[in-house]
Amino acid sequence: MSHQDEKQGHASRTMRTQRLELRHPELEDAQALFDAYAADPQVTRYLVWRPHKDATETREFLALRRALSSTGASYCWVIRKLDETSPVGMIELRVSGTQGNVGYVLARSHWGHGIMPEAVVSVVEFARSALSLQIISSCCDLENPASARVLRKAGFDYLGVRKSHFAHPAISHGARDVQFFELRLG
Ligand SMILES: CC(C)(COP(=O)(O)OP(=O)(O)OC[C@H]1O[C@@H](n2cnc3c(N)ncnc32)[C@H](O)[C@@H]1OP(=O)(O)O)[C@@H](O)C(=O)NCCC(=O)NCCS
Repeated sequence: MSHQDEKQGHASRTMRTQRLELRHPELEDAQALFDAYAADPQVTRYLVWRPHKDATETREFLALRRALSSTGASYCWVIRKLDETSPVGMIELRVSGTQGNVGYVLARSHWGHGIMPEAVVSVVEFARSALSLQIISSCCDLENPASARVLRKAGFDYLGVRKSHFAHPAISHGARDVQFFELRLG
């Protein structure tokens, strides 16, 4: 794929909702994302990565997401509110065959306004129309009801608890129980 094709492919993945733009991450987003949430221990508490120490770590994180996205194994977007210039979060769709798995994060100052359900619905529509995926799953820590609520609001079904499923290193070393959700697109 040429650089131009790659740029056009990424551009075509830009999505707009009523209040948001979701676009492919640039390495230049690192400082804004670091300032917005990547170093915030409350935001990263239930994530699979620890708070970043500096914007260089956020840049490396973005470089990895971009590399994965160029293989088709993952699609990643930064989330920007249309009335603001800086991105406020990220959402990722990991793809395996006809199945996807979604994960997301949002700056704490923007919690509680329905931003993430709006972003998830947009990514679900992308998975359905552009990738023809059949199932999207997601899981969240038992102690993360806000994330569970996001998934319910976006139309996912609750399938129960999976024991010792994911490590959330900010809380403990061992794998933790998670609530498992699924959305069938077929
Ligand atoms: C989870 C997260 C993405 C939610 O995004 P958001 O845009 O604030 O989502 P919403 O505005 O829809 O609010 C979440 C819902 O959870 C509810 N909620 C928040 N805290 C809650 C709590 N402690 N107990 C029960 N419900 C809670 C809110 O009331 C809201 O539901 P409502 O609209 O029915 O009132 C955001 O909190 C976040 O980034 N958290 C840190 C990262 C993270 O945990 N990511 C998910 C990993 S699985």
